[in-house]
Amino acid sequence: MTKNTLSITDNRTGKSYEIEVKDGCIRAPDLRQIKLHPDDFGLISNDPAYMNTAACASSITYIDGEKSILRYRGYPIEELAEKSNFLECAYLLIYGELPTAAQLDVWITHIMRHTFFHENLVGIIQSFRYDAHPMGILISAMAALSTFHAEARNVEDPEVRERQIWRILGKLPTIAAFAYRVRIGRPYNYPDSSRGYTGNFLYMLDYMNEREYEVPEALSRALDVLFLLHADHEQNCSTATMRAVGSTRVDPYSAVAASAAALFGPLHGGANEAVLRMLEEIGSVAAVPKYIEGVKKEHKRLMGFGHRIYTSYDPRASIIKKVAYDVFEVTGTNPLIDVALELERIALQDEYFVEHKLYPNVDFYSGIILRAMRFPTDMFPVLFAIPRAAGWLAQWIEMLDDPEQKIARPRQVYTGPEQRSYVPLQNRLSAA
Ligand code: ACO
Repeated sequence: MTKNTLSITDNRTGKSYEIEVKDGCIRAPDLRQIKLHPDDFGLISNDPAYMNTAACASSITYIDGEKSILRYRGYPIEELAEKSNFLECAYLLIYGELPTAAQLDVWITHIMRHTFFHENLVGIIQSFRYDAHPMGILISAMAALSTFHAEARNVEDPEVRERQIWRILGKLPTIAAFAYRVRIGRPYNYPDSSRGYTGNFLYMLDYMNEREYEVPEALSRALDVLFLLHADHEQNCSTATMRAVGSTRVDPYSAVAASAAALFGPLHGGANEAVLRMLEEIGSVAAVPKYIEGVKKEHKRLMGFGHRIYTSYDPRASIIKKVAYDVFEVTGTNPLIDVALELERIALQDEYFVEHKLYPNVDFYSGIILRAMRFPTDMFPVLFAIPRAAGWLAQWIEMLDDPEQKIARPRQVYTGPEQRSYVPLQNRLSAA
């Protein structure tokens, strides 16, 4: 009979151990029993960048990177993108089930009621320099919110948590819109809840006293699909940050600010911004082959390609590609789109990209859509942070309620010098 265990023989001592295998996983603390002598600390595993380490059990998002599968709480992303919307998916991620009509109504009402914030925060946003990156403003404003809602520190109270979730999801679009308006020197548009989540966001960004102003339905729906696709992606870098920072029991505004900082990096949420800069650098369809050769020769990265988890097509990229054409119907196309399509065509045939299993990721197309919608490039990571907050908060709640979780604290393999004595300044050799 097969056993769900792993037998390990330590060749240093000749001792054998049997370790339980559950859900395709061994528990790293089980390795600690493997010792050279009774005082030995025990074996640990070394996994820089968490290449093969699960840091939690989660029932929120499922990904199979080889089969291009992404599901929120069991529902395929393709079905959700077609039939659901961002706020409903945010509810699904956080509460685990799709809402009833009444639950959805209450949820949307609460979130849209919390789109306003204290006027002092407006002052903080206004005090940034004209060229401040909107992601820097978002991170700072989110951290500042913790000072306006001191009750949020009471993270053990489910009602308090829930209120902060409404506030964070409600206020993020307003922060993002104000960050944009302050930079272009235009007055703020205060939220209009009657326009829906993305409709209100586009209105706050764009409205300038036009008569009978309406946000095109195709654009608010396209942005809603983009938001839905970005809402969660299991243990990516910013989500792992949310769990790690949240594990200290800090308030969720501070933890979301930290997660947003992680998302700002060009290898993560900054990638769609980097894609656009890359497409601009390439400039024309004719220049694509030379650029790809340059990427390979100089060991550079083709931005918007590759993924830690997907070794086949990112399912979100296929959905987004379709959304792109709905957007172009309203906005017209853009020469960079032709460059992007040619880049994708050549890269997908290129031996290097095939061999390394590098496919377009979600950021490759989201950047193009956002450009067509006339978003400035540095707003792109902001448009990723707003929906991803839903995933961060779902994972935060799951982490707080998980009896196995404690403060996140990895181990290290120390490789520095042995103990040595302090050398007085005058006795140290001068640097070359
Ligand atoms: N262009 C060219 N080569 C690449 C690329 C790329 N975009 N991505 C990976 N490679 C190559 C690496 O050079 C490496 O080659 P080697 O084994 O011959 O040395 C191999 O593929 C594996 O790369 P790693 O860096 O080990 O892969 P990792 O899983 O750590 O990185 C990442 C994943 C960060 C996404 C990477 O593919 C990348 O930098 N892509 C570009 C940035 C990007 O688009 N990020 C968005 C990710 S999606 C998101 O955050 C929503």
